[in-house]
Amino acid sequence: MSKRIDAKDLNVYYGDFLAVEGVTMTIDAQAVTAFIGPSGCGKTTFMRSLNRMHEVLPGARVSGQLMLDGDDIYDPAVDPVTVRTMVGMVFQRANPFPTMSIRENVLAGYKLNGARISRSEADDIVERALRGANLWKEVESRLDKPGSSLSGGQQQRLCIARTIAVKPDVILMDEPCSALDPISTLAVEDLIAELKQEYTVVIVTHNMQQAARVSDKTGFFNIAGTGKPGKLVEYDDTSTIFNNPRDQATEDYVSGRFG
Ligand SMILES: Nc1ncnc2c1ncn2[C@@H]1O[C@H](COP(=O)(O)OP(=O)(O)OP(=O)(O)O)[C@@H](O)[C@H]1O
Ligand SMILES: [Mg+2]
Repeated sequence: MSKRIDAKDLNVYYGDFLAVEGVTMTIDAQAVTAFIGPSGCGKTTFMRSLNRMHEVLPGARVSGQLMLDGDDIYDPAVDPVTVRTMVGMVFQRANPFPTMSIRENVLAGYKLNGARISRSEADDIVERALRGANLWKEVESRLDKPGSSLSGGQQQRLCIARTIAVKPDVILMDEPCSALDPISTLAVEDLIAELKQEYTVVIVTHNMQQAARVSDKTGFFNIAGTGKPGKLVEYDDTSTIFNNPRDQATEDYVSGRFG
């Protein structure tokens, strides 16, 4: 429950292309960490390396070290499926399974893991996850309706429910609000603030106000030019990154003077 991540000199490749170079950072447990930086600097790539989703692409690999509370998640003896259960991910576009009911969507992670659970256990999991995602009240009377019958903001919270149903230690969110209206965005931001009581939360966002509002720490990634690797330029308390950054590029980016 809520584990720390330590990356040490992590490089992330697509075949021969080094997309992210030499990231060393500690992502705190029970905190929200934001990744910011211009398009193409490797935020998604780095995030996907944190739960071994990166390597599902042909030729994609990492070097360096990545520890979850001191355990090397890239140890050859570690099953990547287990890693993805411990480190869950929520995507930019809410992606509920459209033909599955709301209830089935929440349980989808269990089905994928092949776990056998009783009806009453399943009921408990569904209610707990939907309450955790702040969606229970809106859907409790229609759990058997398709996931696609929900609004965009509700679908995103359904995906968060699906992620927390399997009790991860870490929740990764890649621009979770980019397709949402301001009210749904605030609902998800409120939820993020609650989730950090129990989980390690990492969020990618292009919205500076959002990073400032929800995160405790912020990492600024940047890229020196096309074809060059993305790097973690500066990583600090969010207030420092926004008010008193060390690096000129960070200052330019957070103040909107970038490119
Ligand atoms: N499947 C892939 N195969 C090869 N290169 C890729 C692949 N996905 C991304 N890249 C490259 O890796 C680099 C980093 O991309 P990434 O998607 O991580 O950036 P990002 O910071 O998330 O950008 P954005 O803010 O636009 O989402 C880019 O040069 C991109 O073209
Ligand atoms: Mg991205």
